Amino acid sequence: MQTEFRPENMERITTPELAQAFIDEQIAALRAQIGDGKVLLALSGGVDSSVVAALLIKAIGKNLVCVHVNHGLLRKGEPEQVIRVFRDEMDANLIYVDAVDRFLDKLAGVAEPETKRKIIGGEFIRVFEEEARKLNGFSFLAQGTIYPDILESDGVKAHHNVGGLPDDFEFELVEPVKFLYKDEVRVVGKQLGLPDNMVYRQPFPGPGLGVRCVGAITRDRLEAVRESDAILREEFEKNGLAGKVWQYFTVVPDFKSTGITDGKRTYDWPVVIRAVNTVDAVTAECAELPFSLVQHIVKRITTEVKGVNRVLWDVTPKPSATIEWE
Ligand code: XMP
Repeated sequence: MQTEFRPENMERITTPELAQAFIDEQIAALRAQIGDGKVLLALSGGVDSSVVAALLIKAIGKNLVCVHVNHGLLRKGEPEQVIRVFRDEMDANLIYVDAVDRFLDKLAGVAEPETKRKIIGGEFIRVFEEEARKLNGFSFLAQGTIYPDILESDGVKAHHNVGGLPDDFEFELVEPVKFLYKDEVRVVGKQLGLPDNMVYRQPFPGPGLGVRCVGAITRDRLEAVRESDAILREEFEKNGLAGKVWQYFTVVPDFKSTGITDGKRTYDWPVVIRAVNTVDAVTAECAELPFSLVQHIVKRITTEVKGVNRVLWDVTPKPSATIEWE
């Protein structure tokens, strides 16, 4: 495929007015490309696919079908938010696929990080493919490809969401934000009326919480990751750190240690707090956090999260550590 580059005279979208002009232009272009055709979109709830969904809803309404796959590795509240925003508020055609058991069964006993990633990515394509086969008359596939995806992959892997669908799908691609940088996608998303916690969301890896539940994923440790992550995010929001710290999350390693609660010995998991600042994710620094806040988070995690008796704070820069633990 020929790589297409951002037109040289394209202005940076930095204001609501410029975003609105982009939205109006894209709606017209989408209508011209799609006509009465039907479009399929894998909607993760991340900012890129959410902006594409909102643009297409404005352009073609119910001729867009969004498929949201819950693989069980999403953060607390995410699937519910996708349903609320797109189905309830925007009246979109949304298919919600509960594939939690299917993914967790496939992942059972798999400890090697790259194998886990392959299983999650491969299973995602299969679930999406199955949903696509149930639908008839879809000739377009929309994707949240953004300009860095094109630059980083030399055009080859630009179709990052559901790349790898079998060849018998002859979709024409619809990629309305493919020439935008991430900050521009956010300005457009804000102008489209998407909620702030969707628009300004921190980066979240495709394999989701799966790479933060170290080693072979078990349901109890996965819940500990999800619950501790929710507490960390809540405290960062309350204390004005959301949007200031680049990425923050928790990890649950696959070992236990001793502890004591109400005079009784425990043998439970630790939770690791990771919060980093970076420009490009190639190198990163541990974010400085008020120690009193760290202590408060430790107290909340050890009292509120089941099966956890200890909290560790990972202050290692990248290098030598990566940002994620797997
Ligand atoms: P690392 O851990 O390599 O992460 O320092 C750098 C950035 O990339 C994100 N990340 C991923 N994103 N799929 C993704 O879409 C992945 O498999 C993946 N692994 C890491 C990570 O969250 C960080 O922002």
